[in-house]
Amino acid sequence: MIFLLGHNGYIGSAFVNALEEECIPWRPFPVKRIRADSLTEVLKTLRQDKPSLVINAAGFTGRPNVDECETKKNETLEANLLLPVVLASACAEIGIPWGHVSSGCIFNGAKLRVGATNEVVTDLLEQKIKQLWTLNPSPFHGFNEEDTPNFTFDDEKCSFYSGVKALAEKNLQKIGGGYIWRIRMPFDNIDHPRNYLTKLLTYPKLYDNINSLSHRGESVRACLQLAIKPAPYGVYNIVNSGFLSTRQISAMLTDVLNLTRSFQFWESDQDFYQNAARTPRSNCLLDTTKLDKLDLKMRPIGDALFEAMKNFRSLLVGTAPVA
Ligand SMILES: NC(=O)c1ccc[n+]([C@@H]2O[C@H](COP(=O)([O-])OP(=O)(O)OC[C@H]3O[C@@H](n4cnc5c(N)ncnc54)[C@H](OP(=O)(O)O)[C@@H]3O)[C@@H](O)[C@H]2O)c1
Repeated sequence: MIFLLGHNGYIGSAFVNALEEECIPWRPFPVKRIRADSLTEVLKTLRQDKPSLVINAAGFTGRPNVDECETKKNETLEANLLLPVVLASACAEIGIPWGHVSSGCIFNGAKLRVGATNEVVTDLLEQKIKQLWTLNPSPFHGFNEEDTPNFTFDDEKCSFYSGVKALAEKNLQKIGGGYIWRIRMPFDNIDHPRNYLTKLLTYPKLYDNINSLSHRGESVRACLQLAIKPAPYGVYNIVNSGFLSTRQISAMLTDVLNLTRSFQFWESDQDFYQNAARTPRSNCLLDTTKLDKLDLKMRPIGDALFEAMKNFRSLLVGTAPVA
């Protein structure tokens, strides 16, 4: 029996689908508020029911986006730091493996191969860098699981959400005995305010950048497979291989969904932050070698996006499914 937190959330509901497809018994694990005696309570339940795995897909990500975490700091800390630490501590105490849904947003930028060395570039919109990835993306690659997150409270600027997610990872790694699954900008064919494709289709203007992305169903299946194998505990980047820019993805959308309108873009970082976003956003590439080596390679990002777009089911934008 698997215990799942956040089963009705965007990521949690994908875990439900994957568990049910695989006929793996699961049960919601309701921990609502963290109190002084939460650890004792969680320990009691775990000792009594002895789940084989505890998946934490709960979290506070802000609505409509992470800007809300700047004004709801208590909720952000409770759901994204206290809750995962209490859960993992209880699991580790009695030897039950845990899986925590983390995020790639604790990184910013990419690695750029220059000769025999790798340089970290954090401003992917800097004119020369952008020209480079637009013309030839091959020297760019992602941060791997050994790299230290660089969009955290230790760095110059980060969002409160990213800072807290990074702090949670740091503490969970110390606790050990489980998996940290880094998902990034999830999408699939089902229209939803948290689906990256829905966001592109509904935002009045887009922010051009390059990012790794995670097909929602494929990524939760990879998380489950890691636990089922079982793969060694630790951090895993759970993203599709490769990357595409916002402009490339929106061009694909125009093409596959036969859109007649064109996408508008913010002119610059300054334009975006002055008019749309309150807190800094992470844009980053994540390396998938660790997952690939375990034979859990996710599809190339272009293929996964194409399939999601082709079968896109729209509730919000009035786009008919494309056969
Ligand atoms: N969506 C993304 O773009 C994205 C990307 C990367 C990583 N992630 C991570 O994925 C996880 C889930 O995000 P999501 O997008 O699925 O969010 P979501 O749709 O808002 O769902 C969040 C879930 O967490 C539960 N929850 C919230 N606060 C809680 C608390 N204090 N105690 C217990 N449960 C609580 C919610 O329960 P109720 O509905 O009952 O409140 C809901 O089931 C988060 O850790 C997030 O950081 C998300």
